Amino acid sequence: MKNVLVLGSGAREVAIVRSISQSLIENSIFCISKDINPQISRLCKDYFVSDVEAVSSIVAYSKEKEIDLAIIGPENPLASGVVNELEMVGVRCVGPKKEVAMIEASKSFARTIIDLCCPEKNPKRREFSSAEGVEEFIKQLGGEYVIKFDGLMGGKGVRVSGEHLKDIKEALDYVGEIVKVGGKFLIEEKLVGEEFSLMSFVDGKVCKHMPVVQDHKRAYEGDSGPNTGGMGTYSFENHSLPFLSKKNISDAQKTNELVAKQLFKETGTPYVGVLYGGFMLTKSGVKVIEYNARFGDPEAMNVLSILKSDFLSVCMSIVGGSLEKQEVCFERLATVCKYVVPVGYPNKPSRGFEVVCNQNDSSLFLASVMLKDKKLIACGSRTAAVVGKSSDIKQAESFAEDKISKISGNLFHRKDIGTKKLIDSRTKRMKELLG
Ligand code: AMP
Ligand code: GLY
Repeated sequence: MKNVLVLGSGAREVAIVRSISQSLIENSIFCISKDINPQISRLCKDYFVSDVEAVSSIVAYSKEKEIDLAIIGPENPLASGVVNELEMVGVRCVGPKKEVAMIEASKSFARTIIDLCCPEKNPKRREFSSAEGVEEFIKQLGGEYVIKFDGLMGGKGVRVSGEHLKDIKEALDYVGEIVKVGGKFLIEEKLVGEEFSLMSFVDGKVCKHMPVVQDHKRAYEGDSGPNTGGMGTYSFENHSLPFLSKKNISDAQKTNELVAKQLFKETGTPYVGVLYGGFMLTKSGVKVIEYNARFGDPEAMNVLSILKSDFLSVCMSIVGGSLEKQEVCFERLATVCKYVVPVGYPNKPSRGFEVVCNQNDSSLFLASVMLKDKKLIACGSRTAAVVGKSSDIKQAESFAEDKISKISGNLFHRKDIGTKKLIDSRTKRMKELLG
């Protein structure tokens, strides 16, 4: 019997909890999060309402409930060192210690690690803590640049020239905002191409890779609008994407392996958990956009929906250092995941309104909602996701679109995610870029 604790209560954590609940290994699930997610609550033995960064109460709760294994959903508790503290009281964690979770918490640390093991995967960049030299470096990059706050911002700390920043004045204004709060930032060369996510299970030595997925970070259709946590994702039945070659995928897999090894070399702490590489295929090959120290959200919903192997068994192999012998395989199915979000998301999301949907639907993953007088109320972040899966991506997309459009509330979603039109246009653009 295993007592499994899941930290977090978004749609990603619904996917994690469902996968654990389907395990053949006998288990009881416990959850800690700020809000009660009704879909998680139904599958849990106990729910502890707490901030996911309240490390000492998380440790005390885990001791009391005799937790064997903890799976950490979001990035903030990883950066706060929740894994370091849990492991000290004998709770094994699917999630890295803070020394190596830095790969996500600090963008400059991530770039340094990449410089040490695969420098060709890094864009040109420079680190700053004041506005001095910013204009000059932007000129050196030919006016094509990205400004990144060097810390955790839920995917919203990045501004891209020509998209979010129209001119040098807007760039300097953003730099001013960061400097005012005493922050550091990076300016990077703007990479051009197609993005994809490759997540790997890592046991400290071995990486077992998941199928590649494409996320849609921009809020609105046609990839316009501000960056979000991710509006939706798709994956193909062959576990590749139409614009990627076998070499591109093995290149990304190798990069995750090198980064996991380099993290150990630099810090003396093995990387244990899920390592998420955010890549871009460019004219000059595969480059790294970012690293995350956890499952992607929405990406977790795509991959866990088609995981054939027993997820709890995979988790136990991760913490037990026996991933090499563990079977990790996925169904040959395409997946499309779409999120509905409050009108105004991400900058001024409306909240407090009722969300009407069928909570018992296994293709639905509730996220930023709470129950009040038996009604689902939107809390302001991404509200709910739907996953369609099929041998044919077209069917997966129409399933997801049909289901997501039936969720009512003051919400919107991107109809274009997973459609043939959008995928074809990206593939065409990539072909043109590669020449
Ligand atoms: P991040 O939080 O680092 O994942 O960045 C969020 C989004 O900003 C990415 O998904 C990209 O769309 C974009 N982005 C980040 N870095 C770059 C870069 N060097 N070149 C072009 N786009 C980037
Ligand atoms: N889907 C992007 C992320 O999880 O950060």
